[in-house]
Amino acid sequence: MSRVDWLSKQGTPLQGNVTVPGDKSVSHRALMFGALADGVTHIRGFLEGEDTRATATILGQLGVRFETPAPGERVVHGVGLHGLRASTTPLDCGNAGTGMRLLAGLLAGQAFDSTLIGDESLSKRPMRRVTDPLASMGATIDTNDGLPPLRIRGGAPLRGISYTLPVASAQVKSALLLAGLYAEGTTDVVEPHPTRDYTERMLSAFGWPIEFSPGKARLEGGHSLRATDVDVPADFSSAAFFIVAACIVPGSALRLRSVGLNPRRTGLLAALELMGADIGVENERESGGEPVGDLIVRYAPLHGVALPLDIVPDMIDEFPVLFVAAAAATGMTTIRGAAELRVKESDRIASMANGLKACGVNIQELPDGAMIVGGRIGGGSIDSHGDHRIAMAFAVAGLVADAPIAIGDCANVATSFPGFMELANGVGFALSQAD
Ligand code: S3P
Repeated sequence: MSRVDWLSKQGTPLQGNVTVPGDKSVSHRALMFGALADGVTHIRGFLEGEDTRATATILGQLGVRFETPAPGERVVHGVGLHGLRASTTPLDCGNAGTGMRLLAGLLAGQAFDSTLIGDESLSKRPMRRVTDPLASMGATIDTNDGLPPLRIRGGAPLRGISYTLPVASAQVKSALLLAGLYAEGTTDVVEPHPTRDYTERMLSAFGWPIEFSPGKARLEGGHSLRATDVDVPADFSSAAFFIVAACIVPGSALRLRSVGLNPRRTGLLAALELMGADIGVENERESGGEPVGDLIVRYAPLHGVALPLDIVPDMIDEFPVLFVAAAAATGMTTIRGAAELRVKESDRIASMANGLKACGVNIQELPDGAMIVGGRIGGGSIDSHGDHRIAMAFAVAGLVADAPIAIGDCANVATSFPGFMELANGVGFALSQAD
């Protein structure tokens, strides 16, 4: 992939309306359940990102036919639970941890062998968290010492297990539930803290009997999925960059339209409110079984906080931009209990700490978080480590920095947020490609 670098400078107060692209988690799952269903599923609001397109390509390799009537729409011709067929070539998940971990569960139940591969970043991400419990269900998956590629041996009969996740992870939970569709008996998953429940909600919408409540899910194998249309809400994690931008740039008043507000995703709102933010919700409604609403974000001076531990899993993807909010706030913010950030698309604690230090911010890295003394962000040159959320977080930092911030290696923003630069510049950012 060719290297793309950005330059972010102070722009104007953020004003107007923004609709961010569709939710990544929901888009991945809609493709997978649509593929395994009997009948035709129409997905609207599909995220046209590289991660979700990689999942569509993989399902295509496995014999599923898709149509794209318009950008952001997919028609999935389901092949039924047992209708997938082997691919002669490896299945490339690109940068997508969600794609790889969920597909590992799905493919463990097939009659044929498969190999899942990923890009440089994904090839360094831990996979034992899914392969170990899948092995105890009877799957045979070879890894490169716990890392991708995953070589999944087909034809192994799976049996349901009761499993308590050692770390809160919707990806692991979902992989086990997907394998559970093919397993003999009951698959029971308990989480140390509730995580996003899109898999459970969508399985239920596709007609699979499932019992779930926050932190628990239970299903049995041997049923079938019935095609159903899916409306994908706008991705809260993409909205997060605009939310923080409007919080920290004086004079801002921004409306984010139709954002997915699943409570397992919106911890950032609670964190920013503790810091003094002015955020309102209007037009709250249900869309496709998910709460959505418009967020109205106005500038307000932020102050540092000790982040409550219990909201960490509800904002796991929003930490890069929370670090920026903390650096722009007055006083100290302490983040703990977030060691999972070290195994995301990059080591997000190190990426943010090194980047903010390069911009003159007083930040101390901790094993599971950081202490950030906010107040002033300087200009500087930072490396995003090919991590989409680090690149976008520093684009936000540039809005309030004393001098421009140069951000290296931004091409992967297209994995989750195609068109970010244009959308951002349309409401007041001053973001450009660096020469
Ligand atoms: C996701 C779960 C989270 C999140 C990721 C998407 C999902 O990962 O970070 O971006 O769609 O299930 P973990 O489950 O590994 O925490």
